[in-house]
Amino acid sequence: MDKVLSYIQANRSKFVNDLVELLKFPSISGDSKYKNDLLKCADYLKVKFEALGLKAKVYPTAGHPIVYAEYINPANKRTLLVYGHYDVQPVDPLSLWLHPPFEPFIDGETIYARGASDDKGQLLVHILAVEAYLKSGMPLPVNLKFVLEGEEESGPSHLFDFIPQNKELLKADGVVVSDTAMYAKGLPAITYGLRGIAAAEIKVMGPNRDLHSGSFGGSIANPITELARLIAKFHDENYRIKIEGFYDDVRELEPWEREMWASLPHTDNGWLKTTGSPAVLGEKSYTTLERVWARPTCEINGIYGGYSGEGGKTIVPSWAGCKVTMRLVPDQRPDDILEKFTKYVNRVASPAVKVEVGNIVGAKPALVERDNFMVKAAVKALEKGFGKKPVFMREGGSIPIVNTFKEELGLETLLLGFCQNDDNVHSPNEKFSLTDFHQGIVTAAHLFAEMK
Ligand code: BES
Ligand code: ZN
Repeated sequence: MDKVLSYIQANRSKFVNDLVELLKFPSISGDSKYKNDLLKCADYLKVKFEALGLKAKVYPTAGHPIVYAEYINPANKRTLLVYGHYDVQPVDPLSLWLHPPFEPFIDGETIYARGASDDKGQLLVHILAVEAYLKSGMPLPVNLKFVLEGEEESGPSHLFDFIPQNKELLKADGVVVSDTAMYAKGLPAITYGLRGIAAAEIKVMGPNRDLHSGSFGGSIANPITELARLIAKFHDENYRIKIEGFYDDVRELEPWEREMWASLPHTDNGWLKTTGSPAVLGEKSYTTLERVWARPTCEINGIYGGYSGEGGKTIVPSWAGCKVTMRLVPDQRPDDILEKFTKYVNRVASPAVKVEVGNIVGAKPALVERDNFMVKAAVKALEKGFGKKPVFMREGGSIPIVNTFKEELGLETLLLGFCQNDDNVHSPNEKFSLTDFHQGIVTAAHLFAEMK
């Protein structure tokens, strides 16, 4: 281990350069303009694996490619599947970025770029831990199979087909994913729950073209007003969701879990600082952590329609729309929720407009084991990497593929995250702490050793 650790220490700045290189690819999966950049990013990763002596391959899909790489030594007892995603979220609003999102900027111990923490910085941690072993002449104590996808952030991901079609290739003892956050600065965490997601788009249609609001306003429905009225019917005054049957399958929190979370160092004031929001608000009778980790939501992500350019335009708009995502918790199922959502929208929408619900996608919520060989190894590795015992937490975000590892390969997942809650994931000025990056690499190196 000494040789491996000295290599990590000695190559601290080279590793940062590796991260900078990876962050330069504008691999925005949701925007077809960048298709070729995702391809280049996938190739870059393949070449990187090959340079370390791993067998690597880029699997094309009908969407963005999957990068697969493996290190197998028959003498090793265990095989670990490492999952990550090299695609990133869109960058808009671009004007809020202090530095261009794909020109990584380092300020002291912080690197700024889209994908810095979600997920390029985190997936690179594992590749660099592999490098530390192999380049310092040490054999890896565990077999590793890497599956890196380019469709996590925009879906539907072709990895959902790839996994059942490649069961033999992906055979392993467990999956490790670094795509979540630590609990706080200096306080590592093992995440054991993720929310799922159900996404939809609503379109509200009125007149067949924008009309003069003087000649026609007040005589026909305004689609934006009717959409706003519809959206207002999603929650009651206690911020409970009013969709019939929405809570039917929600697993209530158990007392031990509420107690454990209540003992975590959390303040709503700190939460307000992180978010910049003037107040906390959510479903009545639940704490902030409970609301985010264990309660479902119905969130409007965007709303559009009519005229919002400079100056005024006196119209009754022809149509309006919004994008909605519902975060789901165990044991809610996205298809069931989307069906209930569609029914509700059609029932409560104004009959004076035409309403369409479309673009529906979903991912199941996940709960993973809190005690198995991976968790045991991770606890020890985090203590060595960060000098602190991890806490156990859940996460409000989603990693859609986690359930598929269980359902198709029978594998448990270890969610071992290294980013921070305030790293501006999906926001302007996404960042990653270079200290967490470095300590993450040390942790991954120990994880491999503890896993044997
Ligand atoms: N890495 C995130 C999940 C996450 C977010 C973990 C914040 C910890 C903190 C993941 O890449 C992600 O954002 N997933 C999407 C999936 C969706 C587009 C289907 C999400 O949760 O919005
Ligand atoms: Zn991610």
